Amino acid sequence: MSVALIILAAGKGTRMNSDMPKVLHPIAGAPMLVHAMNAGQALDLSHTVVIAGHGAEAVTKAALDHDEDATVVLQTEQLGTGHAVMQARDALAGFDGKAIVLFGDTPFMQNETLQAMLDAPADVVVLGFEPEDTARYGRLVMDGTSLERIVEHKDATEAERAITLCNGGVTCCPAPLMFELLDKIGNDNASGEYYLTDLVGLACAAGHSATVVTCSEAETLGVNSRAQLAAADALFQTGARAQLMEDGVTLVAPETVYLSLDTIIGRDTIVEPNVVFGPGVTIESGATIRAFSHLEGCHVARGGIIGPYARLRPGAELSEHVRVGNFVEIKNAQIAEGAKVNHLSYIGDATIGEKTNIGAGTITCNYDGVMKHHTDIGDNVFIGSNTMLIAPVTIGDGAMTGSGSVITSDVEPDALALARAPQVEKPGMARKLFEMLKAKKARLSRSS
Ligand code: UD1
Ligand code: CA
Repeated sequence: MSVALIILAAGKGTRMNSDMPKVLHPIAGAPMLVHAMNAGQALDLSHTVVIAGHGAEAVTKAALDHDEDATVVLQTEQLGTGHAVMQARDALAGFDGKAIVLFGDTPFMQNETLQAMLDAPADVVVLGFEPEDTARYGRLVMDGTSLERIVEHKDATEAERAITLCNGGVTCCPAPLMFELLDKIGNDNASGEYYLTDLVGLACAAGHSATVVTCSEAETLGVNSRAQLAAADALFQTGARAQLMEDGVTLVAPETVYLSLDTIIGRDTIVEPNVVFGPGVTIESGATIRAFSHLEGCHVARGGIIGPYARLRPGAELSEHVRVGNFVEIKNAQIAEGAKVNHLSYIGDATIGEKTNIGAGTITCNYDGVMKHHTDIGDNVFIGSNTMLIAPVTIGDGAMTGSGSVITSDVEPDALALARAPQVEKPGMARKLFEMLKAKKARLSRSS
């Protein structure tokens, strides 16, 4: 059975107080919209339709970046959730499977819950939950196990407001029936909006069945403000850390480690306190990520030791047993097995060969102010401390550079390159200088 996912993401999100559309605010390094799109990934999806409105251009880009097969449709005016779903009609023309509608600002829906909704024996299935505070939610009016209708908080009577079972915002229904019923929805209600929730009453009136599948409040958690965004992120982090530890990763101080939605860390890797994993990081097993390191868009192979205070930026590809020490930044560079960059270095747009040692304070000078250039360092090279490598430049296998060298041209394999001013020595000159300076200081203090 194929399924269509319809994600409503046209709203402004006024309470975010932001120029950015709400659904693009990130949780664990990924837009909320991506979390919502992921919610359906284990289902047999044939269509993903995102309804965009506010910030449609950016929302479209984020949706397609995540899933190039998604369809984005525009809802030019936000006339309500029912109206939003109607915009998917053309995108789903001819589709006769079930459609699941969910909200782009509800990031934690689980595949299992959506599957349970698909499996529930009724024409219309709505997600229900019992919030701690029912305020503002639609109330589910039940008749036994059947759902009769949904009444929005604003439109509800006192008796209806006493109902504790609320609408979690996910609706599942065969697509043809959904569009047929949506045609009958009006906007004669307290908000003047076309409510998706009216679908239930209309379905029942037409002799269709409706029921409820329930989940926890945490799962339906919606984000409306920056405070809720932070709370949602915290919730994600707690779950992701617990999962990693269960998978055999040591987090020395779990509550200080920040993870992204796509962080992958192998078994028996140790993560010390205060490490940030931005998007796109994979760490193989048996690595150590030492305290205060910041990683994004990088790969660390088995047995690597990173940090403390290291920064791995996008395109940093570290082979097995690479060692990157304190205050080292690596960007768009492949570091071969057993190589070491231990102290205070910048390696950008470079390749470093096996077992090469990069001395303290080395910089690959990759940018000339206009263009970026590559530095290629071979195997078993020794780069002396404080070497400036002016790219483009190639250092052959087994070569050496003297400390403090500014290397502007290629170095042959096994050669020693020295590119610094020769040392000059003046006997006795230091003592004379000291005496001169002390005398000057004494003169100045007498005259003041
Ligand atoms: C909705 C439900 C309510 C439920 C609650 C759960 C309706 C009428 N009400 O209320 O029963 O308890 O969610 O959180 O469905 N959107 C659009 N276009 C529109 C309007 C909304 O794309 O024209 C999107 C919003 O961006 C948002 C989602 O739909 O992501 C929900 O809309 P919102 O206005 O927040 O609905 P609620 O009032 O919270
Ligand atoms: Ca809402």
